[in-house]
Amino acid sequence: MTVSREKLLKQAREAAAHAYAPYSQFAVGAALAFEDGAVVTGANVENASYGLSLCAEALALSKAMNEGRRGGLLAVAVVGLAAGQGAVTPCGRCRQMLSEMAQLGGTDPVVWSGGGDEAIEVRLSALLPMAFGPDNLKD
Ligand code: THU
Repeated sequence: MTVSREKLLKQAREAAAHAYAPYSQFAVGAALAFEDGAVVTGANVENASYGLSLCAEALALSKAMNEGRRGGLLAVAVVGLAAGQGAVTPCGRCRQMLSEMAQLGGTDPVVWSGGGDEAIEVRLSALLPMAFGPDNLKD
């Protein structure tokens, strides 16, 4: 299964339109591509209690988990809509959350970050080396 970078970045950009980001004005969209061809998207959801805000990647990952997905994650696209911003790479917490799905299926997803004119391509294992995961909790 080949995933198109431009298509997945476009889906992430479209997902960002559903962000609820009245406090930061920083709308982010994420799109996760799976081995079976499915794409699961999410956008950030902020809260008046700022620290409770949820990232786009966390939303997309949680949606995928709630659809019963447990692996098969091939690619992740993240796009920030704010003007003048560079590429948005997943925050530390989101790297860990994405890594759970990756480890469950034994994949090392490519992460495409867009925003502004910049685009970055990097493997999740490079963003989160020596990741803690499900295997660490096995006997
Ligand atoms: N945000 C994301 O949704 N994903 C990222 O990778 C970085 C940050 C959100 C969280 C918050 O709503 C806003 O961007 C500003 O930090």
